[in-house]
Amino acid sequence: MRRLRRTGLLRGLVRETELSPAHLVYPMFVRHGLDGRAPITSMPGIDHLSVSAAVDEAGEAAALGIPAVLLFGLPAAKDEAGSGAWDDEGIVQTATRAIKAQHPDLLVITDLCLCEYTSHGHCGVLREDGEVDNDLTLELLARTAVSQAEAGADVVAPSDMMDGRVGALRAALDDHGLAETPIMAYSAKYASAFYGPFREAAESAPSKGDRRGYQMDPANALEGVREAKLDADEGADVLMVKPALPYLDVIRRVKDATNLPVAAYNVSGEYAMLKAAVAAGLLDERPAVLEALTGIRRAGADIVITYHAKDVSRWLS
Ligand code: PBG
Repeated sequence: MRRLRRTGLLRGLVRETELSPAHLVYPMFVRHGLDGRAPITSMPGIDHLSVSAAVDEAGEAAALGIPAVLLFGLPAAKDEAGSGAWDDEGIVQTATRAIKAQHPDLLVITDLCLCEYTSHGHCGVLREDGEVDNDLTLELLARTAVSQAEAGADVVAPSDMMDGRVGALRAALDDHGLAETPIMAYSAKYASAFYGPFREAAESAPSKGDRRGYQMDPANALEGVREAKLDADEGADVLMVKPALPYLDVIRRVKDATNLPVAAYNVSGEYAMLKAAVAAGLLDERPAVLEALTGIRRAGADIVITYHAKDVSRWLS
């Protein structure tokens, strides 16, 4: 082993894992009514973007060799049902059309969930007893998927964790002549403390209760594999594990148990934690980020969704 490690050239030849901009997806937050951009305090370096700022930001990502962006929307208004999600003139639909018009070769993935659009912040509509109504939510998610795909989304990414949603979305897309639109399913999505900064960014923290009714127990890895297989059977094209760093074993298990591409979401809390350590002078940013993301790739992720995407692409070029 030492002989291999000592020769720089050989080191490259025998490297098992490659990290390049080609594997990255850059998430962006598009906000209705904003002029330009505004920093998100919980996520240093990430901004809320107006539609035109999002077009610029997407162009910057594309120029850095990042193949895809993932869009989140902050709508004009929220209501009980989250109707802003399936509004054809909604914030994500508008941003998708604008980005695709300027950057047709950049893949636009739309996050598909109701929590940014509901007044109560849950990922679906609530019944009288305050629990999420799974099946009614499926209909609304299906409308949202069709609306996003018709606006030009190349891939839809359901992050709600309702039961049966991949099948429901696949059927709705197919019925609307959108059989070619792939679904990247947040399959193993854990009820995680690491979404905190995102909920501030998306203004989507539940006003009452929590998401443990529909997100998974961090203690369970086999359940993550079961969820991923169910999504695969229902027609998912890409399976996602989220968060990434505390769940590297789940990424590996899903990768080994299925034949589908696997994405891992290096979430807001993982990002904020690293940024805070760097700001405090405790970690050196570049090697720490590259090591963390290489680890996610080594665990088996084909795709890494990360707020570090632009920095990484700059460092690697
Ligand atoms: C919405 C959604 C969440 C994230 C992505 N989509 C948050 C949540 O479930 O509360 C988190 C992303 C991040 O933390 O970076 N369902």
